[in-house]
Amino acid sequence: MTHSPLKTVAEQAIRVYVPCDSAALSVGADQIATTIKALAAEYQANIQLVRNGSRGLFWLEPLVEVETADGRVAYGPVQPEDITSLFECDFLSGDPQHPLYLGLTEKIPYLAKQQRLTFQRAGIIEPASIEDYTAYQGFIGLKKALAVGPQAIVDEVKQSGLRGRGGAAFPTGIKWQTVLDTPAKQKYIVCNADEGDSGSFADRLVMEADPFSLIEGMTIAGIAVGANQGYIYLRSEYPHAHQMLNKAIAVAYQHGYLGNHILGSDFSFDLEVRLGAGAYICGEETSLLESLEGKRGLVRAKPPIPAIEGLFGQPTIVNNVLSLATVPIILEKGAAYYEHFGMGRSRGTLAFQLAGNIKQGGLVELAFGISLRELLEEYGAGTLTGRPIKAVQVGGPLGAYLPEHQWDTPLDYEAFMQIDAMVGHGGIVVFDDKVDMLEQARFAMEFCVEESCGKCTPCRIGSTRGVEVIDKIRAGDNIQANTVLLTDLCDTMTHTSLCAMGGMTPYPVMSALNHFPEDFQPTNPKTGGC
Ligand SMILES: Cc1cc2nc3c(=O)[nH]c(=O)nc-3n(C[C@H](O)[C@H](O)[C@H](O)COP(=O)(O)O)c2cc1C
Ligand code: SF4
Repeated sequence: MTHSPLKTVAEQAIRVYVPCDSAALSVGADQIATTIKALAAEYQANIQLVRNGSRGLFWLEPLVEVETADGRVAYGPVQPEDITSLFECDFLSGDPQHPLYLGLTEKIPYLAKQQRLTFQRAGIIEPASIEDYTAYQGFIGLKKALAVGPQAIVDEVKQSGLRGRGGAAFPTGIKWQTVLDTPAKQKYIVCNADEGDSGSFADRLVMEADPFSLIEGMTIAGIAVGANQGYIYLRSEYPHAHQMLNKAIAVAYQHGYLGNHILGSDFSFDLEVRLGAGAYICGEETSLLESLEGKRGLVRAKPPIPAIEGLFGQPTIVNNVLSLATVPIILEKGAAYYEHFGMGRSRGTLAFQLAGNIKQGGLVELAFGISLRELLEEYGAGTLTGRPIKAVQVGGPLGAYLPEHQWDTPLDYEAFMQIDAMVGHGGIVVFDDKVDMLEQARFAMEFCVEESCGKCTPCRIGSTRGVEVIDKIRAGDNIQANTVLLTDLCDTMTHTSLCAMGGMTPYPVMSALNHFPEDFQPTNPKTGGC
């Protein structure tokens, strides 16, 4: 009997995608999935429900996609009560009549204009499906790494210009070279997945939407430096990422991508997830290592650097999730391809994370060099409240607050340093004109009081005194003298703290004071002044 291709097409189930990452789940994606299944049964529609990861267009979540002959068509944000009308509109054929119709997903401007390298598969694949991962170029980098060997891998990473995405922007290849060159019986690869910065979610998105890219990146790092053990130090507040990582790790073991003799080679690599201790300072690499060793998360003095004496005193690569998840594409496409993106010494792309008071919050992966203004206006579409933006904090809780005249600065590590700001992990938190910048400065100091590991005096005591001085300014007590005192205190913290926690807390404080001095005056209407 001959097989009719037409019949096969007619019988083929229609793929419907409902994301299962925590952002989509938090706005009801599970209920959407259940309701779609129930209505499909009622309408006798032959569907295959796929739980993909989010594409990072969070303001459109839950974003439901349907596979059509022209590509995937999106509807969003979908609420359970919309599903009957979606079926009535025949959304399974990609009907454009429904008010939630967004057209082809890839053509939604927010997504179409991005340059997705690290996030090339996010939202496209089913996260723990190794078939999906390999169908979208997965493990090509790993195979190349096994073929070329340690020094060639390190050279490729060096040439790509990749700098650590966790905040400090240290060249990844140089860190790897140090570990490769340090002789030891045991070496480790540690992934920093503590992601404690306010407004940051890119690490989580990688782990929930494309976990194999991290697994592959860590395995390549292991081959590069001769480490056979890896740990992912995961923020304990990420239960979905935890589940997804464990699922993907188990699948990778089953398919020979982890464990003994990876893909039949001489190289073996084991990988485990360890839950973090729930303190911001445990994201600092030496404190993280202490915590991973089962101790309290206290910062270690450097030197020795972890690349020479890291976990249990052994040479250790500590890299951010994004740094490691970017390595597979560098190996797959070559250093020159990656280096081609970006500007100056900031090569490749950065995952900008739009958060706070923003209309279109989400993930935007673009080459370094774009301006904050373009991100805020073209992608973010202004504030959610509709009021003008007053300040933007870039780079997490230790990042500076930027006033409007700085929004045209290109997002590049060096350009930002020149304006006393930092790009950090790419988190962008937006505030409208109702924000009180004195309150924000106080919050930064208070955050340091709460999160300081307590090892050194400038940070432990300085932040407490900082809150007190700001309170005096707020109370209108000797404002001028107390402002000078606050500036002196910040200067001391910057220059004498043991780590960047105390060393960078002055960035938000001083930027608030320098750029928004009116909020530090007795006439400040928001605090009442005196
Ligand atoms: C207080 C503090 C918190 C930090 N938190 C994180 C974090 O959550 N994730 C991260 O990757 N790096 C964090 N870092 C940076 C790490 O110390 C380290 O530079 C990074 O993990 C190195 O990886 P990379 O070179 O790939 O960026 C933090 C640093 C400080 C000072
Ligand atoms: S600066 Fe703060 S967090 Fe860093 S070592 Fe000193 S006390 Fe600990």
